[in-house]
Amino acid sequence: MPRPPESQGNPPEKLWGGRFSPEGGRLAEAFTASIGFDRRLWRQDIRGSLAHARMLGAAGVLAREEVETIVEGLGRVAGELEAGTFPYRVEAEDIHSNIELRLTELIGPVAGKLHTARSRNDQVALDVHLFLRDEIPGVVRRLRDLQTVLVERAETDFGRVMPGYTHLQPAQPVLVSHHWLAYFWMLERDRGRLIRAWQEADRLPLGAGALAGVPYPINPDQVGRELGFSRRYANSLDAVSDRDYVLDFLFACTVLMVHCSRLTEEIVLWTSQEFGFLELDDAWATGSSIMPHKKNPDPAELVRGKTGRVTGNLMALLMTVKALPLAYHTDLQEDKERLFDTLDTINACLQVLAGLLATARLRPEGLERALAGSVITATELADYLAERGVPFREAHRLAGQVVRHCLERGISLQELAPQTLAGFSPDFGPEVLARLDPAASVARRTSPGGTAPRRVAEQIALCREILVLDPLTPSEAAAKI
Ligand code: ARG
Repeated sequence: MPRPPESQGNPPEKLWGGRFSPEGGRLAEAFTASIGFDRRLWRQDIRGSLAHARMLGAAGVLAREEVETIVEGLGRVAGELEAGTFPYRVEAEDIHSNIELRLTELIGPVAGKLHTARSRNDQVALDVHLFLRDEIPGVVRRLRDLQTVLVERAETDFGRVMPGYTHLQPAQPVLVSHHWLAYFWMLERDRGRLIRAWQEADRLPLGAGALAGVPYPINPDQVGRELGFSRRYANSLDAVSDRDYVLDFLFACTVLMVHCSRLTEEIVLWTSQEFGFLELDDAWATGSSIMPHKKNPDPAELVRGKTGRVTGNLMALLMTVKALPLAYHTDLQEDKERLFDTLDTINACLQVLAGLLATARLRPEGLERALAGSVITATELADYLAERGVPFREAHRLAGQVVRHCLERGISLQELAPQTLAGFSPDFGPEVLARLDPAASVARRTSPGGTAPRRVAEQIALCREILVLDPLTPSEAAAKI
């Protein structure tokens, strides 16, 4: 059968044609149509319709032959959608109506029975629930890939010492591995948030009808079983009005993007000439059109920049839902572009970040330069005195005087003579000098979760235990710390 050309010829009659005059305003039509983006839900829409039709058959609402015809017809529609030959029509507004219209063309008026005991309001809610359940596992796997890269980096860079910062001022030395692993744990919490978002999407809204329920002997639990939902909504008004599950996903992605933004900000800093801690592989950097010497971290900057749009998507949907009376309003159609954009952005950013980090090269000479001649181990002086019974406040004051002495002379703590130190406090013995080496300072921070190499090695082992678990199940391994 020749396919009608897209959006040409006589517009088909609207699904609500009984009440409205046929000449609809073209502008209103184009403005209202969501087919340009919600076509992405076609798989979920077909799956939901198949389950609904079978349930109507089992409930005796439709005859067996009618269900068979509808199921066979939906299969043909799905074939066209899959093959890219489906005739999308803007006049049919959205993916739900487009599919129903095509089904009618293929199997005739019996197609009109598919929408018995269903509204587009519970249909679209079902599609989005299914979509999130389909897509979240992919996000979690990409997040897990990034976690794997962080652990591999922690292993490769093990033993390297860097300045740890507070206020972006050198604070205390830490292992580079410790720094990488801090991001591993941030992502591990993101993984938990994504899994909880998946669980929130795991609730069946179909059966709510337009808003009030339906007057047919339907069995939502059959639909739920076929589609693999573990529970359903208890209130039909809530079922069609709820977008919390989309917000939960957008929030989980926003926090994840904020973490990616912090990491990429550090990559931008570390690859600067001034820090010089890290060098990006050429594939993950770009040059300048005018300055031949430049090597810019554009992909990292873009990940940082895209945090704005992901956060904006969350804000946009929050504002859409705010003050929206029950039940369905077309405002809710605005959820989809926000959702798709966040999903695509997060998937791209996670992959870019994993590739970029896996191939970046640590620059030990930059780390050494940042540590050499510094007073970054001054806390050791205070801790040393405190161990000998000097109240920590007093110990801190004395160590501060030593720091000032060094800064005035432009020398590092390690360059101090033992007798100079003893001049500040008789409690300073010559063995304190060995503690002022950054690596020695790191090795002494053995408290649980501290940066001492043996503690970081424990962390790596724990991360490895987590990495072999199925990323989609909440992990208990962290409880073993
Ligand atoms: N395209 C709509 C959406 O995405 C589907 C539901 C439309 N329902 C309605 N009564 N207009 O939200």
